[in-house]
Amino acid sequence: MSDKATLILNDKSYELPLVKGTENEIGIDIKSLRASTGAITLDPGFKNTGSCESSITYLDGEKGILRYAGYAIEDLTNRANFLEVAYLLIFGELPNEAQYNKFFDDIKKQSYVNYNMVRILDGFPKSAHPMGVLASLTSALISFNPKTVDVESDEEMYKAIVKIMAKFPVLTAWVFRNSKDEVLTESDSDLDYVENLCQMFFKEEGKKYEQNPVIVNALNQLLILHADHEQNCSTSTVRIVGSSHAGLFASISAGISALWGRLHGGANQAVLEMLDAIMEDGGDTKKFMQKAKDKNDPFRLMGFGHRVYKNFDPRARIIKKAADEVLNDLGVSDPVLDIAKGLEEEALKDSYFVDRKLYPNVDFYSGVIYKAIGIPVEMFTVMFALGRLPGWIGQWREMRLQKQPIGRPRQIYVGPTHREFKPLAER
Ligand code: SDX
Repeated sequence: MSDKATLILNDKSYELPLVKGTENEIGIDIKSLRASTGAITLDPGFKNTGSCESSITYLDGEKGILRYAGYAIEDLTNRANFLEVAYLLIFGELPNEAQYNKFFDDIKKQSYVNYNMVRILDGFPKSAHPMGVLASLTSALISFNPKTVDVESDEEMYKAIVKIMAKFPVLTAWVFRNSKDEVLTESDSDLDYVENLCQMFFKEEGKKYEQNPVIVNALNQLLILHADHEQNCSTSTVRIVGSSHAGLFASISAGISALWGRLHGGANQAVLEMLDAIMEDGGDTKKFMQKAKDKNDPFRLMGFGHRVYKNFDPRARIIKKAADEVLNDLGVSDPVLDIAKGLEEEALKDSYFVDRKLYPNVDFYSGVIYKAIGIPVEMFTVMFALGRLPGWIGQWREMRLQKQPIGRPRQIYVGPTHREFKPLAER
């Protein structure tokens, strides 16, 4: 294979170097394009544009492959815990026993949150969307940790990483409990990361929280499945905010806001609201399929389609199987799951969806599990953010260590050309 691409522009030819990844992906390196040709590329939504070279996550949209630093998502969800996977995404290797214990001990030591944050939390109306509150509290963490991370210092970077890994779960639990007017809980260092999350979320005042292994296992799997996904919208946001040398907490706060959108992480909430609406409307999935295909109808089949996966989302397959198991283990039956399965079956036979390669994505079944384990629909995207945190951290760290230049795309201007100014009286 040649190591160059040739571009012919205005009867001149230009050679552009090719970049080949370890999975044989090819990129045309256009770093010199504008300087040598005067032209730029145009790619709204960056559907064909790579922003970086990364060693963190590999996914193959055609084959439905998802690997974190070479490890298959199927192996990680079955054989690792979320904190091991967080370590892998952040530092590039699965931790050995000593590394794991140190990472977890350091996180435990940082799991207190300055109680002045409660006064900020109290300022939000109970009706505030949890993602907006979480983005604000994450940003507010900066005020209590004002020192900007010196990324050249491994120790300072590690400390910032441990701090956010420790405090973020506490903030999510506070956001949840505050919305229900429940007493705020604190971290319990005798528990593992996910068990601690469960007790912070669900502990009833004055009672010892009894762990339910079905819920712990389901959450562990869901957090791993959401932990990273290469250069998705929110991760790209974290990277571009960090590229201005804004701090880690500020960059993550921006990522939370990007994830909130219903086309992205907010889809898990939109899916449940859609399934509930279909159920309330009598469960006529064919009617809603027609709406989804009608260009004049803004309705979309939430939880369907993906920018990269064009055959199936491997995460959706794992979550769909887990949904059956969790509901069965908890002795819960939820008609919404049957409606979801009915929609999937319809779509797999419908040319509109098949032609456009639209299949269930990670958000289509996750909400069924969250609901079964006691998470309300408005908290679904917060759970997505909890899972995605280590991916955001790992990608931010990689971007800074790679010394990526500040992200500043170009544009093609299509507005008015030069015109003379007219004073108000003459307009
Ligand atoms: C996530 O990028 C990631 O990795 C994201 C994520 C992660 O882990 O970070 O995987 C998490 O965000 C998953 C996606 C969650 N969003 C949804 O479920 C919302 C519903 N899906 C769509 O909005 C859409 O499929 C996107 C946003 C996911 C992808 O959009 P694209 O790649 O920009 O595709 P498109 O909008 O250009 O659609 C292509 C065609 C269009 O039809 P035509 O104009 O060609 O006729 O497919 C149609 C679209 O109208 N289409 C849908 C549809 N999704 C796409 N039609 C009906 N229902 C849908 N859900």
